[in-house]
Amino acid sequence: MNAPSPVPVDQSNTPTWVRHRGLRKWVSEVARLTKPERVLWCDGSQAEYDRLCAELVEAGTFIRLSDRLRPNSYLARSHPSDVARMEDRTFICSEKQEDAGPTNNWIEPAEMRRTLNRLFEGCMRGRTMYVMPYSMGPIGSHIAQIGVEISDSAYVAVNMRVMTRMGSAVAEWLGEEGDFVPGVHSVGAPLAPGQKDVVWPCNQEEKWIVHFPETREIWSYGSGYGGNALLGKKCLALRIASVMGRDEGWLAEHMLIVGVESPSGEKSYVCGAFPSACGKTNFAMLIPPAAFKGWKVTTLGEDIAWIKPGRDGRFYAINPEAGLFGVAPGTSETTNLNAMRTLRANVIFTNVALTPEGDVWWEGLTETPPARLVDWQGKDWEPGCGRLAAHANARFTVPTSQCPSMDPKWEDPGGVPISAFLFGGRRSSAVPLVVEAPSWEEGVYMAATLGSETTAAITGKVGVVRRDPMAMLAFCGYNMGDYFAHWLKMGSAVHHPPRIFRVNWFKRDAGGKFLWPGFGENMRVLAWIVERCHGRAGGAETPLGIMPAYENLSWSGLEKFGAARFAELTRVETAAWKEELASHDELFGRLGARLPAALEARRSRMHERLAA
Ligand code: GTP
Ligand code: SPV
Ligand code: MN
Repeated sequence: MNAPSPVPVDQSNTPTWVRHRGLRKWVSEVARLTKPERVLWCDGSQAEYDRLCAELVEAGTFIRLSDRLRPNSYLARSHPSDVARMEDRTFICSEKQEDAGPTNNWIEPAEMRRTLNRLFEGCMRGRTMYVMPYSMGPIGSHIAQIGVEISDSAYVAVNMRVMTRMGSAVAEWLGEEGDFVPGVHSVGAPLAPGQKDVVWPCNQEEKWIVHFPETREIWSYGSGYGGNALLGKKCLALRIASVMGRDEGWLAEHMLIVGVESPSGEKSYVCGAFPSACGKTNFAMLIPPAAFKGWKVTTLGEDIAWIKPGRDGRFYAINPEAGLFGVAPGTSETTNLNAMRTLRANVIFTNVALTPEGDVWWEGLTETPPARLVDWQGKDWEPGCGRLAAHANARFTVPTSQCPSMDPKWEDPGGVPISAFLFGGRRSSAVPLVVEAPSWEEGVYMAATLGSETTAAITGKVGVVRRDPMAMLAFCGYNMGDYFAHWLKMGSAVHHPPRIFRVNWFKRDAGGKFLWPGFGENMRVLAWIVERCHGRAGGAETPLGIMPAYENLSWSGLEKFGAARFAELTRVETAAWKEELASHDELFGRLGARLPAALEARRSRMHERLAA
């Protein structure tokens, strides 16, 4: 960072609730570097949120939706160059390149700091600098981590208020000398005196999302969208927290958390890691089919889980977030009723379509689209015009507390004990519906070699199969080989490690149709998983692991699905698996000496089993 200036910076507008001298000093240093027109310390109040939203409406960034149809809600349209996470612009700048590893972009820290100083010099000119103290996890809890984000985007400020616990209460808890993770964000679009702002400022030439894992700092430049800009989420709660977890003996994972209550009243909790836009939110809010009388699914988290060994020898998971930043397209009353109920009011929609009545629409919301819409780029739209009305990565930001399926324990700082870890990708072929790993080690192998087709959540080509270990390819803040070793080690940090399962809701038939109905019907698989954890359900050994036979799942209410289709869904396709293994080998080869020997041994065993 820049050297401290010998001239004291005016701190006359720093609120009395900011008692941390290091925080005040850092904020003045950033202000001196970025030269905003004014500094606003966010107190996190409803009044402040409403005022910033009104300013965003005034600026044209927000459109206020109909107060009758969607009370207290807004629509934002981003710049077409700024619609998703940018993995090719995300950097882990550890001192040594091998500590970032071959799956992360790396630049030597001193060089990166020179680049950042150049980029951030005067980058907030003409703008307000928002200072946001926030907590990932309930305020005051021993598991929570405090971050402070500085941003020149009011859109970011209002989103951070929904996504995290943000404001004066956090600064008060931080006190005079608590630890916090600093994060500086700029849209990279300074305004000259008198220059009119655009509705979605961003930098079209340069975008950077930079992490310094050793000093636990975040710097983000040029993008105002989602995980690029809301620094508590992917940057702190996954990339920086994964490094904390490695050093301190816990796990920061890209996982949903659900509670499952069986008809006997027995309660189990399950975590699931699925890559971006592969169904975590849906699964976290699952409504069991009518035939599953007495079964109840409750939500604890839908994107991130922090998992720590408990005194009783089990893993306990908490959700560090306070809001959902969920995928809109595909969300409907039939696919995710709980999400639709969550979205009734107090929502910030980004890149969805606008109806003439002042409400929102996206592909999949209704079977028949409205006759006329304004699309996510502000253009007139009608059915059959050949364009998507909503961007495929259009999202909603909404307080988690509004979700009707939230579990009573979702804010319990102690977390909930986990019985199973699910790993699921989006795979059109080869990967069966569900497989249980016979041991922790085999489960770690299964998770480490997870593959998935890319989605619109990241920029680049959609539908390309790639390895996405633990759904953390883009979120692990250190060497992937070391991360695998950490996972192996964590299995013995508890007496009762969760069972590990791989799932795939996305297998397709020859005509390209999904073979599995998915959504609420995933309950059939979840019930089998929970019963397996309690030693009650049957399964058969296969070269891939333990799979249910047709009669091991409950088909009540879905009798028409039939054993033949089930066989298709669970077939071990030996030829396809040989290709699959070649892709595992390729990933493992890249990790070289950092690949744990135990996984290398599993890899050879897999080759033998499939050859047999
Ligand atoms: P991030 O927020 O990007 O990390 O993603 P997520 O994993 O929470 O994704 P989400 O649950 O929002 O799912 C994204 C897409 O997957 C939506 O379009 C859903 O309709 C679709 N989807 C979710 N579950 C299923 C399923 O069981 N079957 C099928 N076919 N599609 C599903
Ligand atoms: C993801 O891409 O996994 C998300 C959305 O959850 S974002 O916050 O933009 O990263
Ligand atoms: Mn995610």
